[in-house]
Amino acid sequence: MSLRVMKAGDIYRIEGPAKVVVKRGQIYATGVVYTEGQSFTVLRARQLAVKAVADSEVELVLGPGALLERVAPGEEIIDEWERRISGVDPKGVVVVVGMMDVGKSTMTAMLGNKALARGYKVVIIDADVGQNDLGPPTTISLARLTKYVTHLRQLVAEKSLFLQSTSMERIWPRAVAQIAKAVEYAKKTWQPDTIIVNTDGWVLDEEAATFKRRLIERLVPSLIVAIQVENELGPILNGYSNVLVLPPPPHVRTRSREDRKIHREMGYGRYIFPPVELAVSLDKIPLCNLPLFQGIEMGEELKRMLTRAIGVGVLRAYQVGSRVYAVVEGGEWVVRRVGGFQVVGLPIDFEKGLLAGLEDSEGFLVGLGVIKKIYYDRKRAIIYTSSEVERRIGEVKCIRLGLVRLDDNFNEVEKATNILKAEAEQSTT
Ligand SMILES: Nc1ncnc2c1ncn2[C@@H]1O[C@H](COP(=O)(O)OP(=O)(O)OP(=O)(O)O)[C@@H](O)[C@H]1O
Ligand SMILES: [Mg+2]
Repeated sequence: MSLRVMKAGDIYRIEGPAKVVVKRGQIYATGVVYTEGQSFTVLRARQLAVKAVADSEVELVLGPGALLERVAPGEEIIDEWERRISGVDPKGVVVVVGMMDVGKSTMTAMLGNKALARGYKVVIIDADVGQNDLGPPTTISLARLTKYVTHLRQLVAEKSLFLQSTSMERIWPRAVAQIAKAVEYAKKTWQPDTIIVNTDGWVLDEEAATFKRRLIERLVPSLIVAIQVENELGPILNGYSNVLVLPPPPHVRTRSREDRKIHREMGYGRYIFPPVELAVSLDKIPLCNLPLFQGIEMGEELKRMLTRAIGVGVLRAYQVGSRVYAVVEGGEWVVRRVGGFQVVGLPIDFEKGLLAGLEDSEGFLVGLGVIKKIYYDRKRAIIYTSSEVERRIGEVKCIRLGLVRLDDNFNEVEKATNILKAEAEQSTT
């Protein structure tokens, strides 16, 4: 712990874990001026720029690895962000876009704080499935902002929607619908003045731009806050007039792919805690996105015919309308047209380790789980989940299989995108 004098106009960069208590004067951080007796924290492995608005004295509690450095004038964007943001009224839906590590989450927190300072009711929606700050990875999460924060991580999700994947590629059409659903839910439930939507960092290719544009068309935001390094957001923003383009902070702490993966793996572990193993009857709680057991189970003769037709042993097969879901030997997925049927062959054990979302009757997440095994004879699934899910199992309407395979320690071992081939069209809601 140390006392430190900060002169009016001085800017510092603080790396957490750190707590800053204002003893005298005024310190600005993330859109808020903290005055005598007030304090804020900087989380571990995160950085924040702060500015003394008046001659100040602060008490600094620096944790292991924490750093404080004075920033040379002109080196920080803190003033520019403040000047540009304080000029806008964040009423309505505000969407924050930008690539990875440009300060989207920080900007979302800042916009939230600014709206709160105006007396607005504020909802934050974190639609970054890879690095979600409010809820578990692979989700869109919602929370009301009722006090100032320095990081979104300080909020706890009040509702989440399971998006199955850690990136928006392949799933973005459903993501657009789900983010819109989150906005609708927030409006209906909380009647906020402001909803700030943080987005994922996938922006660079054409499909990413299409996704972001569809999202913008769907949400019709009153303001788009775009954090741009060069001109990379051009294809997304082209044609929109309600855009505020801001530069990223010059010295952000970037995170490698591996850092991000580890961060998510810790996330699965944190949300599937304390863990319990549940046996779920798939008759009572079916899979949301795979109609196994829902059609007519095929008899031996038909299975033999199917085996001959697709060239791999069929262990079980269920006919659902014009589709046949077969559990097949070997490790390969099979998607084949046989006669008038679309046959989807799921390799035995395809389910092992799949991340899953246990959803309520409105499609919101009750909790995450990991599928250990499906027993076809007993129509049961063994799921590793949290004790909270066990307690709330009565609310679970269906189990949505995800596109991430985890090992027993929640390490991501594979992207299991084959599930998308098997998803029935009717379950894209
Ligand atoms: N002004 C600043 N100076 C230095 N670092 C900053 C500043 N503002 C934020 N940071 C830090 O930069 C890092 C990236 O910021 P942030 O998490 O807001 O970006 P992001 O775009 O949401 O990243 P991600 O792609 O991981 O979601 C964080 O560690 C954050 O604490
Ligand atoms: Mg972020």
